[in-house]
Amino acid sequence: MRESTLVIIKPDAVKKQRIGAILSLYEAHGLVLEEAYICVPERALIEKHYEAHKDKDFYPSLVRFMTSDRVFVMKLSGENAVEVVREINGATDPAKARVCTIRYLYGDSVQFNAVHGSSSPEEAEAELALWFGKDQDEEE
Ligand code: CMP
Repeated sequence: MRESTLVIIKPDAVKKQRIGAILSLYEAHGLVLEEAYICVPERALIEKHYEAHKDKDFYPSLVRFMTSDRVFVMKLSGENAVEVVREINGATDPAKARVCTIRYLYGDSVQFNAVHGSSSPEEAEAELALWFGKDQDEEE
């Protein structure tokens, strides 16, 4: 099924000048960049994005990190895009990520793990609406 997903290249990877390298990996796997922008996210946006984690110990530090510097936000499309992106990203903890995944290559720790990708088609729809600010269904 052709679908879209949200990817955020996090401040650690943007600082390390890895935007091009990371985008190349997605493109090499057939995903298409539909929309993108760079920004320093507002705190309220990150709080909403990570709402599911608000009771976790790492949440305050995660919000600080994600609002500390620029991120690169992308809408990627393709066959099974949500799952394909998750495979290419690798495990949340870079120490457990398969070789050649983005987190294996560019992640430093479970927090500084280079990229975020939506975890399901439903989450992708909600996250795309949050970050791209329009009804994503209407576009497709
Ligand atoms: P992400 O895919 O963006 O989704 C939630 C984020 O929380 C995750 O990547 C990590 O950056 C962060 N995270 C998850 N578990 C931990 C942890 N144990 N300590 C710190 N950060 C974490």
